[in-house]
Amino acid sequence: MVERHKPEAKRVGTARIELIDKRVELPIVEGSEHELGIDIRKLRKETGYITLDDAYTNTGSCSSDITFIDGEQGILQYRGYPIEAVAEQLTFPETAWLIIQGELPTRDELRGFSKMLTNKALLHEGLRHHFEGFPPDAPPMAVLSALINSVSCYHPELLEIGDEHHMLDAAASLISKVRTIAAFSYKKFHGEPIVYPDPSRNYCNNFLHMMFTLPFSSYEPIPEVERAMRLFLILHADHEQNCSTATARMVGSSGANLFAAVAAAVSALWGPLHGGANMRVIQLLQKIHNGEESIDSLVTRVKNKETLLWGFGHRVYKNFDPRTKLLKKSCDDVLRTLNKQDPLLDIARQLEEIAVNDEYFLERKLYPNVDFYSGILLRAIGIPLNMYTVMFAIGRMPGWIANWAESWRGGSRIYRPRQIYTGQKQRSILPLAQR
Ligand code: ACO
Repeated sequence: MVERHKPEAKRVGTARIELIDKRVELPIVEGSEHELGIDIRKLRKETGYITLDDAYTNTGSCSSDITFIDGEQGILQYRGYPIEAVAEQLTFPETAWLIIQGELPTRDELRGFSKMLTNKALLHEGLRHHFEGFPPDAPPMAVLSALINSVSCYHPELLEIGDEHHMLDAAASLISKVRTIAAFSYKKFHGEPIVYPDPSRNYCNNFLHMMFTLPFSSYEPIPEVERAMRLFLILHADHEQNCSTATARMVGSSGANLFAAVAAAVSALWGPLHGGANMRVIQLLQKIHNGEESIDSLVTRVKNKETLLWGFGHRVYKNFDPRTKLLKKSCDDVLRTLNKQDPLLDIARQLEEIAVNDEYFLERKLYPNVDFYSGILLRAIGIPLNMYTVMFAIGRMPGWIANWAESWRGGSRIYRPRQIYTGQKQRSILPLAQR
């Protein structure tokens, strides 16, 4: 049995709205961190009006207990824990458990969950042959989305989730196997033999092993690199109702299974305005490094609206993105430990310095987002450019699952936005001979 729980904000007042022909009273609701909203669920039924909010800029599509963001103050919390504390004190599996289950795991729970992640790392051998069907240069996000749906074909028992234990089973399968899929597609792209997961390694170490171990040379990441990998995944683990997470909830609301919802979320993440931005940032910095464009001319082009400054701006953060700060520091730490210098980091810093002091960016409250420095960290770890958005997807898996599960526990209604129709009024079809 599923214990039903639907997060609900509490009513704290009444909004009185004057329409053309009538007045209406609607509940004002408040979340646990005092964000206020007008509950318009009854508006259409009572008045015939809908609200119009292109791109959902101002629409709360659900109440949720998972993640809190204060975009003005630069605050991000998973289940009430500040991102800075989570990043410093938790492992990725602990963070995943926290986000999906709502509380920190006990020792026994963590042991059990880690064991599940280890046991589920292998892909069915039949599934392994699917990689042969893709051309070697297939975009890894296409492979990931397709393979996530394919995994479910080999685990029909996970398609209809009946209870919490069952849900955790599906969650662990996804979190574990996504890593194996990503590493196998990297190996395929590089023409190297695939490396099977090693049950003696922890989550991040095992991923790096599957990526970089070669037949005659076992890869052992230095602790700083493993730490950077862990940080990267934790910082991407959830971010409330962003485009891909809202997609997961939207797909799940039709009753579609968790694998289908997450595969759709991967597709949403792929876009350059969302997770795909991390690749664009590095391409942009590389262009400057190669002398194909100067920082000044780039900034001028951005201000003339000829291009975006990738890795800048955010729908919610209007001051700073707390994840950027942590990533920037980690870039410094890893490069120092590896005794490496990355000229792209210097260019990124110069660009940030110019942008955050420029009227265009100040007026529009545009600051570096999570994607601005994450690519530099991934470069330092040795991850190739075409895998950056896949890395984001591995990190975001707990958030997609938790949001799907919250909606499933709450017995969500099907998501079905309305529209204001602006097309032709009713007309008759002119016979073909007369057109
Ligand atoms: N470069 C230049 N101008 C920008 C940028 C940018 N990166 N971002 C926003 N603007 C401009 C807009 O054109 C708009 O200008 P206007 O007022 O003259 O019309 C103004 O700033 C306000 O834009 P917003 O309404 O704040 O943007 P929106 O919320 O619709 O989009 C988004 C947010 C998609 C993140 C946008 O800032 C963007 O395209 N950034 C670049 C892509 C990127 O880095 N995406 C990753 C986001 S984080 C994530 O998904 C993980």
